Amino acid sequence: LASEITLTVNGKKYKVGSEYSASTSLNTFLRQSRVSVGTKHMCNEGGCGACMVTAKIYEPISDSRRSYAINSCLCPVFMCDGWEITTIEGLDDKGNNSIPKRLASYNGSQCGFCSCANVMNMHALLDYHAGAVTMKQVEDAYDGYRPILDAMKSFAL
Ligand code: FES
Repeated sequence: LASEITLTVNGKKYKVGSEYSASTSLNTFLRQSRVSVGTKHMCNEGGCGACMVTAKIYEPISDSRRSYAINSCLCPVFMCDGWEITTIEGLDDKGNNSIPKRLASYNGSQCGFCSCANVMNMHALLDYHAGAVTMKQVEDAYDGYRPILDAMKSFAL
């Protein structure tokens, strides 16, 4: 791992160096530095998904940068060199058909704690597939509470 890396969060560049230990997660960096407090922290072991963000990463197979939803609690921040991270604060999706509005209109927000993560998961899926997702892709990306799945399925072709 590099001793200093640069990543972009919501369009702004950040350098991360020796002020953080090698085991610092992306989630800890985002929250401790107050870059994103909308990115939540819960189980810290990849089980709940509350910490999900979108990461645009170079993909060698397609020779392009593509978006993935990642659990920021499991990802060491020093792995993120050159990555473009989008969190709920940087989401450019505010219209009536936005993911947050859709989630709310299907009563999929529950207590709201995991809503940001659910939104970022869908944001990554739509971005990866250039806005054209299938029911199967949405079903593969979500499990659990039915209204959340129904809200996200409403984006499928
Ligand atoms: Fe639960 Fe990251 S905090 S998966």
